[in-house]
Amino acid sequence: MYSLSFQVDFGKDNEVFRKALLIREEIFVKEQKINIEDEFDEYDDESFHVIGSTKDGVVICCARIIKKNNRWYFGRIAVNLHYREVGYASKLLKFLEDYLLNTLGINTVYLDAQFPVVYFYEKMGYILIPDEEVKAVIPCRLMFKELW
Ligand SMILES: CC(C)(COP(=O)(O)OP(=O)(O)OC[C@H]1O[C@@H](n2cnc3c(N)ncnc32)[C@H](O)[C@@H]1OP(=O)(O)O)[C@@H](O)C(=O)NCCC(=O)NCCS
Repeated sequence: MYSLSFQVDFGKDNEVFRKALLIREEIFVKEQKINIEDEFDEYDDESFHVIGSTKDGVVICCARIIKKNNRWYFGRIAVNLHYREVGYASKLLKFLEDYLLNTLGINTVYLDAQFPVVYFYEKMGYILIPDEEVKAVIPCRLMFKELW
């Protein structure tokens, strides 16, 4: 596994978002067949976009951090198909948690976990909130974690 360097930028008018967009198109639009209008929504204007690159500058993962209804969420977490199952999503998640806690000063985070990856987030310390419905194109469960 390569070490990753992460970059963060806010909103859409920047290189980080443009690179994240390519990964999101590949994974959510092409692989998961989500409509492009659903994938790129109004929250992208107000998100911290995150990309992770190898030392050769290949962008292999992305995510966004958004504030919705007074809660902070991680979303659009994705790892390029050719780089999966070796721990990059875990690295990305740890970076996101560190950024939220130590740069933005926020210590509770939520995410909408697609059903097959609930187990992954549980392993990373996230807790299911069973009785709160998530409105999403792909069925999801709401989870949260306290960071410290
Ligand atoms: C989900 C995703 C980000 C995981 O990336 P990854 O780099 O492969 O994850 P890791 O290598 O850090 O895997 C961590 C664990 O989750 C498990 N896992 C990852 N993806 C999984 C999946 N789709 N189904 C079941 N388990 C999965 C891995 O097996 C691993 O478990 P283990 O340590 O017990 O072997 C990646 O599969 C992906 O981009 N999927 C498409 C987009 C998506 O579904 N995003 C999540 C939205 S909530």
